[in-house]
Amino acid sequence: MTTTAVHGVDAGPSGALAGAGMRVAGHDVDTTHGPILYLEGISVSFDGFKALNDLSLTIDDGELRCIIGPNGAGKTTMMDVITGKTRPDAGSAFFGQAIDLTQLTEAQIAHAGIGRKFQKPTVFEQHTVFENLELAMKADKRVRVAARARLSGAELARIGETLELIQLRDEVHRPAGLLSHGQKQWLEIGMLLMQEPRLLLLDEPVAGMTDEETMRTAELCQSLAGRHSVVVVEHDMDFIARIARTVTVLHEGSVLAEGSMDAVQADPRVIEVYLGR
Ligand SMILES: Nc1ncnc2c1ncn2[C@@H]1O[C@H](COP(=O)(O)OP(=O)(O)O)[C@@H](O)[C@H]1O
Ligand SMILES: [Mg+2]
Repeated sequence: MTTTAVHGVDAGPSGALAGAGMRVAGHDVDTTHGPILYLEGISVSFDGFKALNDLSLTIDDGELRCIIGPNGAGKTTMMDVITGKTRPDAGSAFFGQAIDLTQLTEAQIAHAGIGRKFQKPTVFEQHTVFENLELAMKADKRVRVAARARLSGAELARIGETLELIQLRDEVHRPAGLLSHGQKQWLEIGMLLMQEPRLLLLDEPVAGMTDEETMRTAELCQSLAGRHSVVVVEHDMDFIARIARTVTVLHEGSVLAEGSMDAVQADPRVIEVYLGR
């Protein structure tokens, strides 16, 4: 897509969004003429240090994108910009064609359909796996159910599908606090899925996982792609190799290289700053 296509959109949609409360939901994201996520010329400075430096990146609808790069490359800061936690000093960030992320609050961005998983799992330990998923669904403002209302058949079916996807069906009645580290991570991904995000951001999802858990997480990421757009930041190259389609290498706040796993791994600049260490 061209820059003009995004910039040609007037300020209407985000203005209307702010004015009407949170009206835009994930299924309203307009991707008919372009990517689901569009970052251009994003810069973020912390006390004069450029954490992001003219970063441009697009993610297609339904894509599974891997982002790698050395510590301090700006990967987490990029996710902070996408989710509204950090405002860029310069550049544009659009979700679909019309949703200007730089104009929305974190809550509005989550509601618009961007889900983010942080490194540390934040499940409700005393509640069961089922209850965690149920709570996540009810936290979604689009699902207007009273706290104690019974779940509809459709809602139960959604929880069932999610349990299947995150491979926690056998643990459904266990308190989340008793799950393994890996299972907690999957549960948190499941909780994000209950809000039906269009775009999922996963920051180092396999950190601290066993090899087997890592491979199961790779399967999970593969099955999410297509239904959702997924951006995965990871250091674990075995994991990346298993799921990679397009890989983007960040370095010093901008894109150093982008392409297939093979192309990126063979790129001398990537070897020098990252893989060759
Ligand atoms: N809130 C902040 N204040 C100051 N410096 C920060 C802040 N957040 C990140 N940085 C700095 O920005 C750079 C990029 O950090 P980060 O995005 O966390 O990198 P990555 O996730 O790729 O390891 C680092 O040098 C980091 O120290
Ligand atoms: Mg990081």
